[in-house]
Amino acid sequence: MKVTLIATAKFGLEMIVKQEVQALGFDEIVVSDGRIEFSANITDIPKANLWLRAADRVLLKIAEFPAHTFDDLFEQTTALPWEDWITQDGQFTVNAKTHKSALKSARSCQSIVKKAVVERLKSAYQLDWFPETGAAFTIQLALVRNSALLTLDTSGVGLHKRGYRQEAGEAPLKETFAAGLVQLSFWQPDRLLLDPMCGSGTILIEAAQLGRNIAPGLNREFAAEGWPAIPAEAWADARQEAQNAILPGGNLQLQGSDIDPASIEIARSNAAKAGVAEDIAFEVKDVKKLWIDQQYGMVITNPPYGIRMAEYQNLNAIYIALNKMFRKKDGWSVYVLTADEKFPDYFKRARPDRVRKLYNGTIQTNFYQYYGRKPPT
Ligand SMILES: C[S@@+](CC[C@H](N)C(=O)[O-])C[C@H]1O[C@@H](n2cnc3c(N)ncnc32)[C@H](O)[C@@H]1O
Repeated sequence: MKVTLIATAKFGLEMIVKQEVQALGFDEIVVSDGRIEFSANITDIPKANLWLRAADRVLLKIAEFPAHTFDDLFEQTTALPWEDWITQDGQFTVNAKTHKSALKSARSCQSIVKKAVVERLKSAYQLDWFPETGAAFTIQLALVRNSALLTLDTSGVGLHKRGYRQEAGEAPLKETFAAGLVQLSFWQPDRLLLDPMCGSGTILIEAAQLGRNIAPGLNREFAAEGWPAIPAEAWADARQEAQNAILPGGNLQLQGSDIDPASIEIARSNAAKAGVAEDIAFEVKDVKKLWIDQQYGMVITNPPYGIRMAEYQNLNAIYIALNKMFRKKDGWSVYVLTADEKFPDYFKRARPDRVRKLYNGTIQTNFYQYYGRKPPT
């Protein structure tokens, strides 16, 4: 059965998620703000959830229609075949958000949709009362400019929850976001990658999983695993395939350091849980004392922001250290994510080749990109 899936993505990461969707072999891809829509088979839902690295969730599109009034919303929602997905004993919740639409109250839209789906299921199952003891279903309504998009969330907990981060250091990046940064940098598994302020190691762990072709969702569950509409074998097969696809470890050049010993301990423990302990060398080190002798390499790092960690004094010294380290190393590409717009004033090797605006949660940051010479092949 053909379905339309939507991978949701943070602002600025849509193109990366589009490439991931393409690489998984999906087609009819349509990209809009925060949304990558594609065509798939129902049995591909496991693959999309297991493999997408930078996407936040995978939603199953049920319908999209204009809705200017509560009647529009109610009638069109009741007309949809919810019983194809939601079981008689299913528990379902509705999340709604509205933006620039005549129907302004998300709360009212939410209860209208809930009522409409209950009406539909009552008549489909010939029941007046639902036990709600079975699989969980979350319906999402996004009403934007009077166009209602109804989806079912197949992921459940957001895809950033890979299952490896039992502990977080201070101000860790979301795993999906870190995976996006690595892919934006064009890092290739044969290249040396350094994060000299690695905190809990998220950037390097995501790079390691990418380099070893480890499906990021292999160690977690997804909401749609409980849905009878998707055969259990589809999940088992996708997991087995992902297991078989893992490349041997120990061949990557990934290095992480941080001044804080507790963070390095957390990073090591997270890397072990992610199955990539042997791929990353972690050490406790002040970035000001770091010494690099390789001619070629890449840095992806996010220094303390100052806003979040009140470390203003330390910041200038860190920038000066980075500048000293890489000023003459034109074989190194340097990628720095920070909310501090003064960063380029200190990093004087060149003007940034590219500055991307990205949101780390709600904080607006810039991803400063300085391209280095490619190593000779
Ligand atoms: C924003 S956090 C990095 C978070 C990391 N990307 C993660 O996902 O967990 C900044 C890190 O810089 C580290 N740091 C601060 N000053 C440092 C210094 N002088 N040398 C090395 N690391 C430093 C902090 O300990 C903190 O872990």
